[in-house]
Amino acid sequence: MSSFVVDKKGVKRYAVTMDVNGMEYTKVIKANTLLVNFLREDLDLTGTKRGCELGDCGCCTVMLDGKPVNSCLVLAMDCDGHEITTAEGIQDGEDLDIVQEKFIEHAAFQCGFCTSGMIVSSRALLNENPNPTDHEVREAIAGNLCRCTGYVNIVAAVLDAAKEL
Ligand code: FES
Ligand code: FES
Repeated sequence: MSSFVVDKKGVKRYAVTMDVNGMEYTKVIKANTLLVNFLREDLDLTGTKRGCELGDCGCCTVMLDGKPVNSCLVLAMDCDGHEITTAEGIQDGEDLDIVQEKFIEHAAFQCGFCTSGMIVSSRALLNENPNPTDHEVREAIAGNLCRCTGYVNIVAAVLDAAKEL
């Protein structure tokens, strides 16, 4: 259990330390702070989107120790000592990741609200399986809902990225 302090209102706040996109952060947070809110509000990493907050839409997807998770369903406290990768951490410094490049090339987004989560899920897939089939790509992004594109260009972008890995 992380160490805690009690604030002026008598609420316990816990110290958590986690590696986010290769940087170590220590913050003092409430026990019920969701990972999505921790990333967006405590770390200003607003690339992770907040949609349904019910685990249905996938726009809040981040990697937790390399595995995609819905960050609206994870308590930040439970990430103490773990590694998080957000959409911001997919790219390499100023250089876009190949998945990001292919999303642009294939016009795999319209409003863009699902895009961060889609790219995180796609990247997690390619890290595990650099040569996926069309079906495997669709399975990997099954938890990421897109209201705009019809998925065809998204799947094409991921398959094309795989070819260049
Ligand atoms: S905001 Fe997390 S799944 Fe929709
Ligand atoms: S691009 Fe609009 S929801 Fe996917």
